[in-house]
Amino acid sequence: MRLYVNIDHVATIREARKTDEPDPVRAAVLVEMAGADGVTVHLREDRRHIQDRDVRLLMDTLRTGLNLELAARDELVELACSLAPIQATLVPERREEVTTEGGLALSGEGDGDHLAGPLSRLQEAGVRTSLFVDPEEDALRRARDLGAEAVELHTGEYANASGAERGMELGRLARAARLGRELGLAVHAGHGLTYENVVPVAALEGVEELNIGHSIVSRSVFTGLGEAVREMRALMASARDRVSEPGTWLEPLGY
Ligand code: PXP
Repeated sequence: MRLYVNIDHVATIREARKTDEPDPVRAAVLVEMAGADGVTVHLREDRRHIQDRDVRLLMDTLRTGLNLELAARDELVELACSLAPIQATLVPERREEVTTEGGLALSGEGDGDHLAGPLSRLQEAGVRTSLFVDPEEDALRRARDLGAEAVELHTGEYANASGAERGMELGRLARAARLGRELGLAVHAGHGLTYENVVPVAALEGVEELNIGHSIVSRSVFTGLGEAVREMRALMASARDRVSEPGTWLEPLGY
């Protein structure tokens, strides 16, 4: 099973100050060195975290592959076609939402018609296509009919559930994964997966890729914060030895 790490929230921290750190492109290098099979970013219409520049640089830098999540809007689809990442995942998007709230609406008559054009444009550009869907039969059948190569099952309901309800949500995911495979779709899963809830999903038959972001970036604060403070303390402790004439301006000192 492949792990694609979503690094949007490295960019969220950067955008909180509109500065140049932390750079998600640097994060992507670490993610790859740690063994991720690929990197995922969501280029939102409002550019609240990942910027066009990030996607361009990731395309130049990554040694694995980029899974670009995007809404099926012309401007975004054009950009995706011109950059041609290994994979594009079409997702629903609402400006007011804090994060993607569910799969694409694909259960009613005519649902998803607007996806047919973007899917074929992406495929013509050599991009593997995936649709973010709820784990429901109608959505999977529609995804197949629209010609997507893969689906990403929305695991958010499972992640938000507890007790017996969580078991039921896991059952839905298992049935959807099975049906997806029967329909000839590659099956991915993601959203809301954490260190506490990932294991049953990672054990599901037929799921070949997980997309995990927020929980990994959150964990890295705790696994890396101690070292970051130690480095700052060491720099302060050495300051008077490093600055020969206190009070004079020096070129920035590397550390
Ligand atoms: N998959 C999709 C389609 C998403 O929109 C997101 C969030 O950007 C993820 C996976 C990752 O979710 P999380 O950050 O909760 O791990």
